[in-house]
Amino acid sequence: MLERLGLMPPQASTFAPQVDMLYVFLLMVTAFFSVLIAAFVIGFSIKYRRRSDSQRTPHIHGSTALEIAWSIIPLGIAMVMFFWGASMFVSLKRPPDDAMQVNVVGKQWMWKIQHLEGRREINELHVPVGRPVKLTLTSEDVIHSFYVPAFRIKQDAVPGRYTTVWFEATKPGSYHLFCAEYCGTMHSGMIGQIVVMDPADYQAWLTAEAPAPAGVAAGGESLVAAGRALFEKNGCVTCHQPGSVLGPMLAGIVGTSVTLQDGSTVKVDEDYLRESILTPQAKVVKGFAPVMPTFKGQLNEEQILQLIAYIKSLGATPSASGAADAQGKTGP
Ligand code: CUA
Repeated sequence: MLERLGLMPPQASTFAPQVDMLYVFLLMVTAFFSVLIAAFVIGFSIKYRRRSDSQRTPHIHGSTALEIAWSIIPLGIAMVMFFWGASMFVSLKRPPDDAMQVNVVGKQWMWKIQHLEGRREINELHVPVGRPVKLTLTSEDVIHSFYVPAFRIKQDAVPGRYTTVWFEATKPGSYHLFCAEYCGTMHSGMIGQIVVMDPADYQAWLTAEAPAPAGVAAGGESLVAAGRALFEKNGCVTCHQPGSVLGPMLAGIVGTSVTLQDGSTVKVDEDYLRESILTPQAKVVKGFAPVMPTFKGQLNEEQILQLIAYIKSLGATPSASGAADAQGKTGP
């Protein structure tokens, strides 16, 4: 009903009804106590008003039962809110393993989006209905925030690190995308749309030969293939190949833990790969000399994401190309 009155955005993701239910609960609790307390304030001010100048206020010594009651009841209500909200937060932060991966780079003042299969778009994100989609976000400059009211999701895109958010769209259609973090003069113009399509239409869209959006190199090449080209062009392959003593082998490394020179361990995830590309000396794997040059300023965020997609695609097998081709089609 609120949706039809224009008071609430449409519910178009699996999260939307859940978030709204919690929201309505908070609203009801707040309204209930506001009305109750206001009624008591007004009622008591009439009932206990001063009736004559000689009237004295009696001494009140308090009531333990009352004190306990008005501590326990709000505590119980607050705990319901906490566990309800926390369980939703946890599920929002944990994308399902089979989620489709999409990379999003915020930039003053646009959203640049790369699909794993190679299609790129600006200020538009096409997704299939009924499939979990995991977004990996970062920014080229300042903090932006990826906000889709119809999905009830909002996640900051922060320069220098990766953040993730996921959703599963439930209704085909076109929905607003906003930047929800003030990011400069054209912040209000940093808008776009999410296009939710039937899975078959999405597949057709994905493989269609599309003209590249203005300002973007023609797409078409999968992220893994683009990453492999960068891997070769930037000479990464020289040191990161079987038998090399200069750099660690990258096949199958993602998701494992590596031991560093000081004996500590670090989990190899997207953030560690990114750091190692831009600040190679920060966490050098034990047994290797800190000889890797930095690629800061030579690669943009989208290219770093392509490299990471390629490194993730490298299975434990030394035949990198076979694994890469398989991954490129099925996702991470
Ligand atoms: Cu980007 Cu506001």
